Amino acid sequence: MRADIVVLPGDGIGPEVTAAAVAVLEAAGRRYGHSFQFQTRLIGGAAIDAEGSALSDATLDACRKADAILLGAVGGPKWSDGEIRPEQGLLRLRKALGLYANLRPVKTHPVALTASPIKSHLLTGVDMIVVRELTGGVYFGQRTRTETAATDLCEYSVAEVERVVRRACALARGRRKYVVSVDKANVLETSRLWRQVATRVAREEFPDVRLEHQLVDSMAMHLISHPREYDVIVTENMFGDILTDEASMLAGSMGLLPSASLGEGRGGPDASTTSTRQIGLYEPIHGSAPDIAGRGIANPCGAILSAAMLLRHSLGLEAEARCIEAAVAEAIDHGALTADLAPSGTAIGTEAMTRAVLARLEIDCIAVELRD
Ligand code: NAD
Ligand code: IPM
Ligand code: MN
Repeated sequence: MRADIVVLPGDGIGPEVTAAAVAVLEAAGRRYGHSFQFQTRLIGGAAIDAEGSALSDATLDACRKADAILLGAVGGPKWSDGEIRPEQGLLRLRKALGLYANLRPVKTHPVALTASPIKSHLLTGVDMIVVRELTGGVYFGQRTRTETAATDLCEYSVAEVERVVRRACALARGRRKYVVSVDKANVLETSRLWRQVATRVAREEFPDVRLEHQLVDSMAMHLISHPREYDVIVTENMFGDILTDEASMLAGSMGLLPSASLGEGRGGPDASTTSTRQIGLYEPIHGSAPDIAGRGIANPCGAILSAAMLLRHSLGLEAEARCIEAAVAEAIDHGALTADLAPSGTAIGTEAMTRAVLARLEIDCIAVELRD
């Protein structure tokens, strides 16, 4: 297969972790005989500095034409007081491409459990996926600002809720057929609409899927007290942003979690069909980590696992995706750990971690092929 991938390294540790993900994609391409063409462009603070905007029209156009987009992270203290913020580039990209469903899987690895501040016996076997609505809510509502006050409008339409709940329920069909929808229906009107629509979509279109509702504040607690129970969680934009940073502590580090942002795509809204080719944006859930940028110590696994999601969701390359996921899990389980996961003295850097994954790749590709 031939595929065009736009790479947007962005700011801070973004370029460090995307370099690792590209190296792994290239290796997987060689192993399976695919030709991935990479086109690197600017986004975020780097784009503000060089092009005067956080996402230029030319870059957006290149993204539209690509088969998939791989992104690092945007933002940093250098741009936090400026008129244009780096984050605007990312929000524009998500909105312009209609990427309303942000899939954020959370899994624990036995060796990484010690890195989590949560007791290990609660974490073994955690395997959930958060479906975060990504193009609506308070992120995209009207904003106002005067000398003495500010507002951010939170808005959701029935259609916006329907499509993301549908996506979550379709995903659940390929898993434990259990969806928890998270809202704040005891206070917010948008949440009352969300709950009503979610209930209807699940009842009418997914009678085989069990749907439960949970208020976001108690969900934040349950995520820590019994994380194993959850399978698919669907929620609005800002709740999903916050809950997934919290959930990263189940896995042990922000540096481990990948994400896929998908729209209707060319293959329709059913995320359980993995063989359709659809445009998607793939990025780790973490930010630009200004506190560790430039030191070569960032964990590249979230970016590498995002590359695996790219192969699965945009290119329909399931075996290749599994091969990369197995290589990351095996590398970690054999003790290849970056500083966020290891006690000081035993940690390895971004490049060594990437080499550890590359070293496992061939073995794990064979294992995946034998299993399938
Ligand atoms: P952050 O995710 O950048 O960092 C939070 C903490 O996690 C830091 O201590 C950091 O060192 C650590 N961390 C994050 N990724 C890591 C990795 N791969 N390996 C090891 N440690 C890692 O969040 P923040 O500090 O709140 O935000 C910094 C900037 O990043 C802000 O400008 C924010 O807007 C931006 N941001 C961007 C994205 C994105 O581009 N998708 C996501 C989140 C935050
Ligand atoms: C994320 C980030 C972004 C978000 C920011 C950088 C706009 O935190 O991808 O989780 O809030 O969506
Ligand atoms: Mn976030």
